[in-house]
Amino acid sequence: MPDRQPFPPDFLDSVRAIVGERGLLTDPSSVAPYLEDWRRLYKGSSQAVIRPANTAELAAVVRLCAQSRTPIVPQGGNTSMVGGAVPNEDSSEVVISTSRLLRIRDLDEVDMTLTIEAGVTLKAAQMAAAERGCLLPLSISSEGSAQIGGVLAVNAGGNNTVRYGNARDLVLGLEVVLPDGSIWNGLRRLRKDNTGYCLRQLFVGAEGTLGIITAAVLKLVPQPKEVAVALCAVGSPEAAIGLFKRFQMSDASSLNAFELMTGLGIRFVLKHIPDTLMPVETQTPYYVLVEMTTTRPEAGLRLLLEKTLEQAMEDGIVADAVIAESDAQRAAIWKLREEHSEAQKREGASIKNDVSVPISKIPAFIQEAAQACEALMPGIRAVPFGHIGDGNIHFNLEQPVDCDGAWFLAQGEAVMDTVNEVVRRFDGSFSAEHGIGRLKPHMLEEWRGGAELALMKQIKAAIDPAGIMNPGKVLP
Ligand code: MLT
Ligand code: ZN
Repeated sequence: MPDRQPFPPDFLDSVRAIVGERGLLTDPSSVAPYLEDWRRLYKGSSQAVIRPANTAELAAVVRLCAQSRTPIVPQGGNTSMVGGAVPNEDSSEVVISTSRLLRIRDLDEVDMTLTIEAGVTLKAAQMAAAERGCLLPLSISSEGSAQIGGVLAVNAGGNNTVRYGNARDLVLGLEVVLPDGSIWNGLRRLRKDNTGYCLRQLFVGAEGTLGIITAAVLKLVPQPKEVAVALCAVGSPEAAIGLFKRFQMSDASSLNAFELMTGLGIRFVLKHIPDTLMPVETQTPYYVLVEMTTTRPEAGLRLLLEKTLEQAMEDGIVADAVIAESDAQRAAIWKLREEHSEAQKREGASIKNDVSVPISKIPAFIQEAAQACEALMPGIRAVPFGHIGDGNIHFNLEQPVDCDGAWFLAQGEAVMDTVNEVVRRFDGSFSAEHGIGRLKPHMLEEWRGGAELALMKQIKAAIDPAGIMNPGKVLP
């Protein structure tokens, strides 16, 4: 049993006085779901999960923590891939959950902005926008659980980065509770606001180490009038990138998603996820999901998609392709992609490498990383997939068949080092969209050391001098 470091006397009573019975969980069975991450890499311990009902309550709780120097772990939907939202093992930290901050404060169809609280799931935020004819152009596999606050805290990327950028590109304003419990209200909805340091961008991607995001103003775009989705069988990552280039040339402004999958990754999905179906008959080692959307009425997107694919087939870039003919078919194709992580989890132990390289280097990177991993561990199964339209590959590795899962996971550092060594050769990044969390702070030292890391540490010391915000995450 780890040492238990009890909170100061009366701490929980004072918290209860602020948030009431409903806002404080101390019963071990209620607290348990907040202590383990989605990947089950970390199992922390905490005596309390605090669930404030609004920003004022949350700020009062943080003030209390600041006074008693009680470390805080902010948590949204707890979908972090890098253990960024779970407490450590010694029971010294308190979890503050944003899940009761659920108000949609405003949606303005002229400003095209959504002002929304941190606990709303990304899916619910998308639906709120859709109800008013707008689109929140951010989509990730975990959007049903991931909450806006967490999505912004980790600067999530996802499927539409190729067109709309990452979460940080959609943020116009933020409301943040700072480590001393004060509230910064920066909920401006201005497209131009050139007034000194851009503070909101400090908190986006800081993974809760500088403060807790409680609300945000997000940019919306009009809802598309036409959506076209195809699944294409290709022989290699080179062919996939060749196809990407063609779509860019034919109508880059309509390209909404360009996702790579392997035959193996799809087979895992078909094996482990109910109600999945492979619509393309031709078997190839790789597949590409293309999505195009437009707000222009009668733009003839489907025809464009068909023509581009026909030409690519004639030129030997694409072996076979299916274009979705209905919403249901579109959803079925997307399901093959969205369920990749879940299927890999069910297949056995897997090690994730969320990396990016310049788009032009993707084929060479995949080939060299696969070779390096096979040399390290014969039989290891590489399942590269993801957002190749923006250079982000999830170079995930599944345990060799019949090997012990726990042993495989224990090789995680060596496997990640092997992949990262190749990433470095291609001038890439060791974390493209999942962040640093608890898994990768030591890598930050290695990759961003020197002036860059020194500056990050100075920023942390200036905003959170007592170091109570999400300790042990991001910074080494
Ligand atoms: C996804 O895009 O599905 C996730 O970010 C990838 C992962 O689970 O590695
Ligand atoms: Zn992803």
